[in-house]
Amino acid sequence: MPDKHESRHLNCRVCGSRTNAFMSFGRMPIANGFLTAAETAKEYFFELVPAFCETCGMFQLVEQPQPDKMFHANYAFYSSTSRYMQIHFEKFARSVMEGILSGRPDPLVVELGSNDGIMLQHFHAREMRHLGVEPSVNVADVARGRGINTISAFFGENLAGEIEAAHGRADAVLAANVMCHIPDLASVASGVRRLLKADGVFMFEDPYLGDMIAKTSYDQIYDEHVFIFSATSVMNAFARHGLELIDVAPQQTHGGSMRYTLAPKESRAIAPAVGECLARERQQGLDRLETYVRFKQNCENSRAELMQLLNRFRSEGKRVVGYGATSKSTTVTNYCGITPAHVEFISDTTPIKQGKLSPGAHLPVRPYEEFVRAYPDYALLFAWNHGDEIREKEQCFVSGGGRWIVYVPDVKVVS
Ligand code: TYD
Ligand code: ZN
Repeated sequence: MPDKHESRHLNCRVCGSRTNAFMSFGRMPIANGFLTAAETAKEYFFELVPAFCETCGMFQLVEQPQPDKMFHANYAFYSSTSRYMQIHFEKFARSVMEGILSGRPDPLVVELGSNDGIMLQHFHAREMRHLGVEPSVNVADVARGRGINTISAFFGENLAGEIEAAHGRADAVLAANVMCHIPDLASVASGVRRLLKADGVFMFEDPYLGDMIAKTSYDQIYDEHVFIFSATSVMNAFARHGLELIDVAPQQTHGGSMRYTLAPKESRAIAPAVGECLARERQQGLDRLETYVRFKQNCENSRAELMQLLNRFRSEGKRVVGYGATSKSTTVTNYCGITPAHVEFISDTTPIKQGKLSPGAHLPVRPYEEFVRAYPDYALLFAWNHGDEIREKEQCFVSGGGRWIVYVPDVKVVS
């Protein structure tokens, strides 16, 4: 890559080795930075460049905007918008209560990036000691309104010390779709190590690199996701901080995720699933640069096919509406060059996004009711990770002749 990247993280954020910045998605705005027309003049952009570290296996962004540009008092992401996600987090909470916490006297659960309390509410309901750490004040306020103990701060070694002083050590530290957001993984890992009891566990889940590569779901790559983890990279990154990967479990959420369980080194047996997963990753080539070069080609093919389709519908005068103003869609719309001439508006149920423009591409975001009021010819499924839930809900759209445009794993039109 050219010299202008020198000042950025061309060295691995985890192990310091030289990484390979194998492609660029070009100029990108903040993925959740929905904005008004007046704000477009001073919209912030950065170059979205993923890189792969052949030494430790970490897939990462070369450049990430300052955290306060992404997670702030107007953070547009509320976890509780999907019914399936509600169920998912209830199950996650239950598995923790019935697993690691069962039989422990007065256990403490700490969740990093607890958002609106979608998971902690279940611990709260059972009057268990819990603490959420959530830097985005608006979503944290929703959690506090539900009676969930939440502090608004960024987690790291210092905060871990403060929590320990105030509440003691934790039996379980949990995180969902948040570890991959945090560039200073070392500080979080050592903070977690410090906060955990000797027999405690750290469980977190995030979009899985293996799924992203297999499905060409490049829209997982955006500002917030500074890392896309695999079992290999998680094992290597946390071993540096005395935490051992003891179990892995694939999840359906966010288009394919992995839940990782870590524990202080040599405190617990390592489940067979870990070795199996590491072997599968080697088989898939997740440890080799050539896999990422092929991924780049797949992204370019996907973009070409999607734009061919959208240009055709545009020339035929068809109405296309986006479904779900996801963070992921920011990468798709900006990388592919989707304009309001291709997509009339994006339908979304999140009030804070409605009436705004999508980041970079400036597609209007409108309430879901507008989608229902006059069904378009095609709905571009930006919220493909909720595909089952949405297609089940939108049977009237399809029976009326509407069709879905999907692009993961392949670009196609489906009913
Ligand atoms: P999300 O799945 O969180 O994706 P990302 O992590 O990429 O932001 O976002 C889903 C978005 O789609 C959210 O803005 C809510 C919206 N949505 C709908 O409008 N209708 C629906 O039925 C569902 C499930 C989501
Ligand atoms: Zn590395």
